Amino acid sequence: MSATPVVGRREFFRVAVGAGALVAAASQGAASRAARKTVMDLKTPPMERVRIGLVGLGSRGSGAIPRLLAIEGVEITALCDVEPERVAAAQKQLETKQRPKAKEYTGSEEAWHGLCGDPNVDVVYNCTPWRLHTPISVRAMLEGKHALVEVPAAVTLEECWQLVETAEATQRHCMMLENCCYGPTELMVLRMCREGLLGELIHGEAAYIHDLRASKMQGYHRFWRLQESIRRNGNLYPTHGLGPIAQYMGIHRGDRFERLVSMSSMERGLTLWAESHFPPDDWRRRSRYALGDMNTTIIRTARGRTIMVQHDTTSPRPYSRINLISGTKGCFADYPPRLALEPDAHRWIQGEALKEYQTKYAHPLWVRVGEEAKRVGGHGGMDFVMDWRTIWCLRNGEPLDQSVYDAAGWSAIAPLSERSVARGGEPVEVPDFTRGVWERTPPLPIVGG
Ligand SMILES: NC(=O)c1ccc[n+]([C@@H]2O[C@H](COP(=O)([O-])OP(=O)(O)OC[C@H]3O[C@@H](n4cnc5c(N)ncnc54)[C@H](O)[C@@H]3O)[C@@H](O)[C@H]2O)c1
Repeated sequence: MSATPVVGRREFFRVAVGAGALVAAASQGAASRAARKTVMDLKTPPMERVRIGLVGLGSRGSGAIPRLLAIEGVEITALCDVEPERVAAAQKQLETKQRPKAKEYTGSEEAWHGLCGDPNVDVVYNCTPWRLHTPISVRAMLEGKHALVEVPAAVTLEECWQLVETAEATQRHCMMLENCCYGPTELMVLRMCREGLLGELIHGEAAYIHDLRASKMQGYHRFWRLQESIRRNGNLYPTHGLGPIAQYMGIHRGDRFERLVSMSSMERGLTLWAESHFPPDDWRRRSRYALGDMNTTIIRTARGRTIMVQHDTTSPRPYSRINLISGTKGCFADYPPRLALEPDAHRWIQGEALKEYQTKYAHPLWVRVGEEAKRVGGHGGMDFVMDWRTIWCLRNGEPLDQSVYDAAGWSAIAPLSERSVARGGEPVEVPDFTRGVWERTPPLPIVGG
């Protein structure tokens, strides 16, 4: 894996806010953590236009360009990738849409520093490999920008705290781009939960089950994702399944993750795939993969709920995020979508019979921009709904749907699961990134815009 620049400790403590005023950021000790001003439901001044600097122009970053340009008020003013030809390809995308050329930052691993300091950038939209997510987001906020960052927002607990502390010190937004929270099914279930259809929520099940053996072995810039499988064993990519469940349950808004236990199966998938596709001397055949094929993590919340989260990216099986939520009056499960309700909760309502509920609980965001979302695309339209809603909030000075506490708390499940796995499945405490604010924050409403 390529060496990744990190924001130095001294630099992290020097916080440049807005016009460049310097304020002292607190140290990372517990006392100063308690002294910060929360950014829960942060409102920032409405922005007439949102000038975006896009970093990481691989598969995800290049896909974001047509989506962002389809949204009123958005300008892409800066582009950054370590590979110059990717910046050139992105400029072509702008040209095709008859948009002005963006400022280019390329040719070195650190070129993103320049983009973060660019005065014509308001928002840094970060689609780089995982190891760069926190360093770039922290730098962006220190430069007075809002940070929108791909999933997971952080890979270590220390990074999770860095995101929270920098957002609080700078009073900038730091939102993880958890697009699965904007799927038509997930938003419909959010509405069902808020309208009480399932009663009091008790248990959820989430997953990232996605056969990525070929992509990990052959794709991604400099094999960054395969390197994660070589080094780490745990629930490495929890937020796609977990984010929606956390929103249903009001995690960081009336409840919080308290502790977890985690176990991984043995590893076979990547080793067997390499054996059947590469000659004996290929480095991918000689590598040893730490990541067990299936990880199962169980989280208990402060209010006594439980959540199962699975991660399997190396087995031959169909895609699933499970997306199950069970309450005192019924249960919803996905893949395929089905509902069970009292007094007849022993059978699933699905297929044609489910349509009545899908119409009744259709989410206002999908009603409003669903057709456009399907046309513009991005995972069936949910990527567009996420971008559209986020830009709408920024332009109207409204709080974003996912706070920095969600970015940190949902991402933290990966390093915490690694810790539990390494200790034979021992319980591990989840830090309270909100420092108690979760107790007095109401659940996310059925958002609109
Ligand atoms: N939310 C989703 O549905 C979804 C889907 C796919 C990927 N992702 C996330 O998006 C991110 C990118 O994934 P991808 O599939 O596009 O990977 P990728 O390997 O295709 O792209 C990564 C890009 O980052 C660039 N890069 C690497 N180091 C850099 C540096 N120092 N400075 C600037 N650019 C640098 C690479 O050149 C490459 O263009 C990952 O975090 C991944 O988890 C999210």
